[in-house]
Amino acid sequence: MVKGMRNICIIVKNQIMADHQTTLRFLAEPTDVNFGGKVHGGAVMKWIDQAGYACAVNWCKQYAVTVYVGGIRFFKPVFIGNLVEIRARLVYTGSSSMHIAVDVFSKKPQDAEYVKNTHCMIIFVAVGNDGQPVNVPPFVPSSDEEKRLQEYAVRLMNLRKDIEQEMKEFY
Ligand SMILES: CC(C)(COP(=O)(O)OP(=O)(O)OC[C@H]1O[C@@H](n2cnc3c(N)ncnc32)[C@H](O)[C@@H]1OP(=O)(O)O)[C@@H](O)C(=O)NCCC(=O)NCCS
Repeated sequence: MVKGMRNICIIVKNQIMADHQTTLRFLAEPTDVNFGGKVHGGAVMKWIDQAGYACAVNWCKQYAVTVYVGGIRFFKPVFIGNLVEIRARLVYTGSSSMHIAVDVFSKKPQDAEYVKNTHCMIIFVAVGNDGQPVNVPPFVPSSDEEKRLQEYAVRLMNLRKDIEQEMKEFY
């Protein structure tokens, strides 16, 4: 990588990428509708997975799979025809895992401000050709915001230990 280029965004069609962030922007289409006339929650989850995947693969430069999605909260509905923005930020790396905070925003195309619809944490694991985990480059936070998000990811990881213990019999 060229020195000094680390935080410069590259805009590729509707995908905006820095080295640890990916943003997808598109219109919610009529085919995304649920039974109530708004965007289907499953469509939003698919977008989260896609944005997280692009962010993870852009970081580790190889194939990665979703291992965990947690804390999805739908604050507000997304409406058909709205401009949707999915912001995926890598906030923590383990040996093979990449923890990505995803925020979903939307607005009428003519409006100035986005509203936040959803937030969640999604975790990808880089895998080799044999499907087994492989190491990823470590993410080192630099800004205060990046450090805050890394601490958030670590706290969630610790909380998940109790949840996993509770759910163990169903695994
Ligand atoms: C992802 C997968 C390769 C991991 O294999 P595994 O044998 O469980 O691997 P490990 O136990 O060594 O864990 C690998 C990493 O996953 C993380 N991980 C495993 N279970 C996790 C969980 N419940 N939550 C968060 N992270 C988890 C581990 O912490 C580890 O991260 P690290 O290397 O950074 O420490 C395997 O579980 C798999 O193929 N799952 C299916 C993935 C898939 O098909 N996803 C698409 C959705 S259908």
